[in-house]
Amino acid sequence: MNGFYLGNNESGYLGQVYDITDVANYGANNVLVVRVDATQKEGWFYEGAGIYRHVWLNKYAPMHLVHDGIFVHAQVSSEAAKISVETAVKNEDNRKADLELEAQLLSREGSLLAKATTTDIPVASGAEVKVLQEINFRNPRLWNLDDPYLYRIRVLLKQNGQVIDQQTLRYGLRDIQVKTDGVYLNGKHLKLQGVNCHQDHAGVGSALPDYLQYYRIGLLREMGVNAYRASHNPPTPELLDACDSLGMLVMDENRLLNSGREHLDQVERLIRRDRSRTCVFMWCIGNEEFGIQQTDYGKRIAQTLLNKQRQLDPTRTCTYASDLPNVFRGVNEVIPVRSFNCRQFAVADYHRDHPRQPIIGTEMGSTVSTRGIYAIDSLRGYLPDQDIHAPWWASRAEAWWPMAAENDYWLGGFIWTGFDYRGEPTPFSWPNVNSHFGVMDMCGFPKNIYYYYQSWWTDKDVLHISPHWNWTGREGDTIEVWVNSNAESVELLLNDTSLGRQEMSRNSHLKWSVIYQPGELKAIAHKGGRTFSLSRYTTGPAVAIKLSPSKTTLLADGQDAVVINVSVVDAEGREVPNAQYKIAFEVDGSAQIIGTGNGDPSSHEPDQGLKGIWERSLFNGRCQVIVQSRQQEEAIQFKATAPELRVEEIVLRRN
Ligand code: GAL
Repeated sequence: MNGFYLGNNESGYLGQVYDITDVANYGANNVLVVRVDATQKEGWFYEGAGIYRHVWLNKYAPMHLVHDGIFVHAQVSSEAAKISVETAVKNEDNRKADLELEAQLLSREGSLLAKATTTDIPVASGAEVKVLQEINFRNPRLWNLDDPYLYRIRVLLKQNGQVIDQQTLRYGLRDIQVKTDGVYLNGKHLKLQGVNCHQDHAGVGSALPDYLQYYRIGLLREMGVNAYRASHNPPTPELLDACDSLGMLVMDENRLLNSGREHLDQVERLIRRDRSRTCVFMWCIGNEEFGIQQTDYGKRIAQTLLNKQRQLDPTRTCTYASDLPNVFRGVNEVIPVRSFNCRQFAVADYHRDHPRQPIIGTEMGSTVSTRGIYAIDSLRGYLPDQDIHAPWWASRAEAWWPMAAENDYWLGGFIWTGFDYRGEPTPFSWPNVNSHFGVMDMCGFPKNIYYYYQSWWTDKDVLHISPHWNWTGREGDTIEVWVNSNAESVELLLNDTSLGRQEMSRNSHLKWSVIYQPGELKAIAHKGGRTFSLSRYTTGPAVAIKLSPSKTTLLADGQDAVVINVSVVDAEGREVPNAQYKIAFEVDGSAQIIGTGNGDPSSHEPDQGLKGIWERSLFNGRCQVIVQSRQQEEAIQFKATAPELRVEEIVLRRN
């Protein structure tokens, strides 16, 4: 800064703080130079590059709260909460100070509910002191996945009665226990229905506007996901904000299993940053360190990291994502929760041999599929959109979930992965540019397997038929029809002729071989004495574009964003599932398009507009545009056009 070297941060995932007090030009221009070197990777996966997380300028008084220096934890029951607030205060003034701390519990709306005050805290010049305060509160509204109520903890630092620094955290009161027979949230057993996710999204890569974090977590919740594994790196804090707000548990992960100074420091920064997070229920100290996980090195390093974790956060437990089968030696000897990446076949034996170690599936069910595709295409790199293919080292959905669901010694598991992500195009390579592992594609459009999980992970009425029913030139061909549902039985009809009624086994799906005729394919589900139905039609040709924005009002703050999903419909308004039109987009001046995507793992169309022209082809009926607001109040007009189709225009309001 202004020519002075401030420091170096080895992690692209963890923030670093630099004190610029001495080298700032006050009231004048400052020059801050940041050099990002992304030539070395931290992971083996696509990581993004550049500065894509927030950068903040914080201004403090010389006596101030320490960065990430507040640790809130609580003992909670439905009758009472005992909240501990540990606060670190630093005196960077040249003289000793007597300070006062007030820790307040506020409602979400901001009314004061309880507080603790500590006066006459002597802090010598240059010293940092830690103050422990306790707030007791009766009849708390507990945070849970359906009512993620967040109180506020406000810490005020005062000197001579004046507030000189303050910080407010959002905090949910909840109790989490990880036992050998399950995770208990507020005393209630909960099977982990988790997903692994990398951090990137269609159109924007790793540079997600905060809104997209909420969008993605919202999609996962709809599917029935209750836990998110940030694989394999510290998540951005805004992801954790979304999980706290929307009700999603998080396995918070460190990048490298190493106890050298740099890496121990990264673990410490991660835990200090996230230990007051309601959503974080478990730490993960590493992933698949093949070279050391089965050795004494691995065991000793893990023990050192565990000691550090317990010292900084005794309130949570910890795991390490291991791809070893029934092997105890090494990291698994010391890790409190044994994880399995794949190797689901070894879980029962491991449990028999180590019945007191809770077991979690950290990478399960790696089905590879391409949305809307029904045949292998090794040229373009596509796989059928069903639970058919998985790499040899992993498993399909129906190979792991029934085991996890039916055995209490499985805490549950995390699918590899929630969304497709850039890189790892297993089992193909170029021209693929992204993975096939997602239950949803890069845009968050569901693949068919989504409905398998949704059937067994929610108590909604789920009924889904695949494939689509728009086959040209295939009359008389036999088509395998899959039905996903959580009904007790399902009847399938083609053009009003019954193809039979089948009983649904739990954690499974149904299949019919159907001789193709265009028309209406209808499923009627029978559940608890009720029926509900769903039809797939052979649609007519597309005549118009349909825009489905994720919301209709945006903040005029230059940050807020909206996801606009694009499809095309026939004359009767039915979405055409196999349409592949190229659509062009325009937005007026009070917002900007920041990315487009379509979920095609082999799409080489630019995610960014070229020379101000934004366009994207539909991939099997869908594409997506992400629009971000500017700091202007006018309504946003968004228009989509394609030569043969009726133009669609929407107006988004500002507030
Ligand atoms: C695992 C690894 C993941 C991903 C996956 C692909 O071994 O932990 O990050 O690479 O394989 O199957």
